[in-house]
Amino acid sequence: MAKEVKSVEYGLEKIFEGAQDFLPLLGTDYVEFYVGNAKQAAHYYKTAFGFQSLAYSGLETGVRDKVSYVLKQDKIRLVLTTALNSTSPIGEHVKKHGDGVKVIALWVEDAKRAWEETTKRGANSFMEPTLERDENGEVVRSGIYTYGETVHIFVERKNYKGVFLPGFTKWKSDYNPSPVGLKYIDHMVGNVGWGEMNTWVKWYESVMGFVNFLSFDDKTIHTEYSALMSKVMSNGNGRIKFPINEPAKGKKKSQIEEYLDFYEGGGCQHIAVATDNIVKTVKQLRARGVEFLSAPPHTYYQEIPNRLGEHMKMMKEDIVELEKLAILVDADEEGYLLQIFTKPVEDRPTLFYEIIQRMGAKGFGAGNFKALFESIEREQEKRGTL
Ligand code: FE2
Repeated sequence: MAKEVKSVEYGLEKIFEGAQDFLPLLGTDYVEFYVGNAKQAAHYYKTAFGFQSLAYSGLETGVRDKVSYVLKQDKIRLVLTTALNSTSPIGEHVKKHGDGVKVIALWVEDAKRAWEETTKRGANSFMEPTLERDENGEVVRSGIYTYGETVHIFVERKNYKGVFLPGFTKWKSDYNPSPVGLKYIDHMVGNVGWGEMNTWVKWYESVMGFVNFLSFDDKTIHTEYSALMSKVMSNGNGRIKFPINEPAKGKKKSQIEEYLDFYEGGGCQHIAVATDNIVKTVKQLRARGVEFLSAPPHTYYQEIPNRLGEHMKMMKEDIVELEKLAILVDADEEGYLLQIFTKPVEDRPTLFYEIIQRMGAKGFGAGNFKALFESIEREQEKRGTL
């Protein structure tokens, strides 16, 4: 696994030795979902998660075959897209997978070069470098396929001043619920099929220049009933993190297998969004109807001081309040983190969200895996999918 180093290249902080520099990534640009009804999904993300109306494209802007609503909260941009006819590949995607993540778009300096470097290394092209232009300037986008039918689109926007992308108009709405403190995307997790994790780990290494900086095997991630394996991939500057999961054999069905059954293939399992006040954020989300996984047993909260050790001194949150809100806590050498997971946000048990607050810790809550998966299994039990 990669060792952390500090150096500066391409004007970015390069923290992972071994990461390749042929694909410098500036950050996540947007996440696009293909959904059955973008108008209603946009209302849900505004009402429940506090996203703000940003941009729109559809019939009124001259687009005849699809409609897209763009939502924003701090650095996070979500795009919700629906087909306007039965022959659209967007409709086919929704028919097969249900509502789900189609595009994980990455912000780059040079979208043509990003496409050339990745396709040269074996990526399948989704979109050749394409220049789009309007009165606000120009954007170059290109794209490649990753796991399942998910794609990465590279976005070069240094010559663009518009609200989102060419073709989009500002979305003005009279309905503007307040934000809940979601700041940026911390990581996005992909679920892949049996025995495919290492294939995708190698793909991210060789095609995207990522490094594997954390691994969890089924001995770490298991409960009495089910198991999974996970490897965390990161780009060189650490801004983009993609854990990759595959199911593992247990007495009962792995939650990853449940996802693969209902999504009908590999895809994005969860999006982790960062906040700097998880207690406040989660209180607001709960009040707005967001459903979270249930809390672990009381003993979990009694053990927190032991698990946190010296980090307990810097902990400002009240453990009683954390338990009331079902927020989980974990620690590593560098600090602690607080996290909580929603139930799936669509009818199929597929995509869900994680809310995370990092207080120095760089991990993913390995100490919570058992409690978390037991909570997921309680939900699987109700769905008859355990
Ligand atoms: Fe996560």
